[in-house]
Amino acid sequence: MPVEAAAALAAKDVVGIQRLSPGEIQLILNTAEELLEVARRPIKKVPALRGSTVINLFMEPSTRTRFSFEVAEKRLSADTLNFSASGSSVSKGETLFDTARNLMAMAPDFIIIRHPHSGAPHRLAEVVPASIVNAGDGINEHPTQALLDAFTMCQHFGGLEGLKVVIAGDIRHSRVARSNAFLLGKMGAEVRFVAPASLLPLDVEELGVIPFVRLEPALEGADVVMMLRIQLERQKKLNFPSMREYYDFFALTPERLALAAERAIVMHPGPMNRGVEIDSRVADGPRSVILEQVTNGVAIRMAILYLLAGGRSEAASDS
Ligand code: CP
Repeated sequence: MPVEAAAALAAKDVVGIQRLSPGEIQLILNTAEELLEVARRPIKKVPALRGSTVINLFMEPSTRTRFSFEVAEKRLSADTLNFSASGSSVSKGETLFDTARNLMAMAPDFIIIRHPHSGAPHRLAEVVPASIVNAGDGINEHPTQALLDAFTMCQHFGGLEGLKVVIAGDIRHSRVARSNAFLLGKMGAEVRFVAPASLLPLDVEELGVIPFVRLEPALEGADVVMMLRIQLERQKKLNFPSMREYYDFFALTPERLALAAERAIVMHPGPMNRGVEIDSRVADGPRSVILEQVTNGVAIRMAILYLLAGGRSEAASDS
């Protein structure tokens, strides 16, 4: 294994960026950098988690996060079990904690959880001995997404300190925006949130970001432009007049992107709604790093599992 075998995270779990120190964030980014190399090997596997069991407990839909965790687990030689709400006894009314207690009876080492309720991973982490990794909880946090976003920014700019990062879209309902604000703030970047006033978070003043209600002034001199989709599943009705009008005022078009720094990159956590928050000419254009984010997601999730294992057992040592 190329990374330091002794490296470990102090906590049992990764439930949010708020609980990680800048040093731990840097350790995860450095470890991911080393682990990227595994994907270039003819046999894309290392034995770090051989004998460990990981349960992927996804109570909300996911494409990128679920598959990249599964790829990461397999590349670390873990045994993986996939659990989704549909097709399980959750659909018959079983609670999260009864589900978790039953899963714990099978002695997993890690549970990766995505859940519609904010705080579900934190509560689970208190009651089960397995390491819990938050794969997105309600509108609260999506820590592994913010880490892969930071990793992608570092690849392009060599670090995060002083970067001007625009995050635009349905911020109020976005766990990605919150985790990015926490991470980028800790690492010395400037974060600009852009949304119609109805889609800015109520606690925006406490997040250490600069709020904007128009995209153009926020884009001036930006190094990173991260677009977010409208999360229709988390709002009872549209918080703005129409999708057409949203595109007219808030979509990232080639003309608007020209206001950002010449070296600016375009990011999106996915899934994208083309023609709503982002124009296809930008999404597929030369400044887009959206698929690089997906590739980097595997390395970041490998790094987190590897470092959690190093903290708990001898599982991280090479053989
Ligand atoms: N970025 C992200 O969380 O995508 P998925 O919902 O597809 O996992």
